[in-house]
Amino acid sequence: MSDLEVCPFDAPLGAEIRGVDISKPLSPSAVETIRTAWHDHLVLLFRDQDMSDAQHFAFTAQFGTLDYPPELLLAIAAGEVRVEDEPMAINVISNVIENGKPIGVLGNGEAFWHSDSTFVEIPPAASLLRSLEVPDSGGDTYFMNMYQALETLPDELRQAIKGKSSKHDAAYSSSGKRRPQFTELDPSKSAGPIHPLERTHPDTGRKSLYLGRRLGSYIVGLPLDESEDLLNRIWAHVTEGDFIWAQQWRVGDLVWWDNRCAMHRRDAFDPNVRRTMHRTQLAGDRPY
Ligand code: OGA
Ligand code: MN
Repeated sequence: MSDLEVCPFDAPLGAEIRGVDISKPLSPSAVETIRTAWHDHLVLLFRDQDMSDAQHFAFTAQFGTLDYPPELLLAIAAGEVRVEDEPMAINVISNVIENGKPIGVLGNGEAFWHSDSTFVEIPPAASLLRSLEVPDSGGDTYFMNMYQALETLPDELRQAIKGKSSKHDAAYSSSGKRRPQFTELDPSKSAGPIHPLERTHPDTGRKSLYLGRRLGSYIVGLPLDESEDLLNRIWAHVTEGDFIWAQQWRVGDLVWWDNRCAMHRRDAFDPNVRRTMHRTQLAGDRPY
């Protein structure tokens, strides 16, 4: 008998999974229950998990193929490193500085609404973020149900995006920091993969809005000012909507989100307290 329990939140998305130690190999039925919960609830929270990076990788690998952290995905896309040569790496999200060097990315500032690594042709299907050290307050992470964001889009906007795609520029990180290797400032001219604004989830068959991030975004085929105007109206709809669940972190939490049909953002926090997370990714799939 398994004690595994799926406890949906009273929110537009998210569920806590209880009664399972995810540092150990799962039974096939536990894998299927968790996979189904992931598809149904988009974001899963596992609390009080004490695990190593190796166990974090092993947990993730039971659900698909591991994918690389963003900076490595970019280096692979640019042909700077060969996949065959790259060992899988944990993605460190941290504001901690050791010996004058940041041990991770994103610092202590706000991270704007985004889906992870949509600036590559095949973005990750999921990210799994595990907390190692957290502040007492601040640094909450918010998740948005992008199925609902699409379903509630006013008719006029739904028509306006029909058949349209957008370019997902890699120039800005989710904290708005510019990556120096990207120099083109005009979003209509910059490089980046094209993804449909409305995408179909390969496992659930449901359609969701797929935006990536606002900075550097461009709707293909429109004059830049029209693209900006349409993007502003879409983003106003999603950010004013109520499709959100918020995670207040405790040490030992692991939060797993579906990167295809959920977006996330993070609050800023006190720069003098330490916050460190380790993240794995599951590889994505094409066609949509
Ligand atoms: C991420 C991310 C949010 C956070 O890991 O992809 O955006 O809470 N981090 O640090
Ligand atoms: Mn992210």
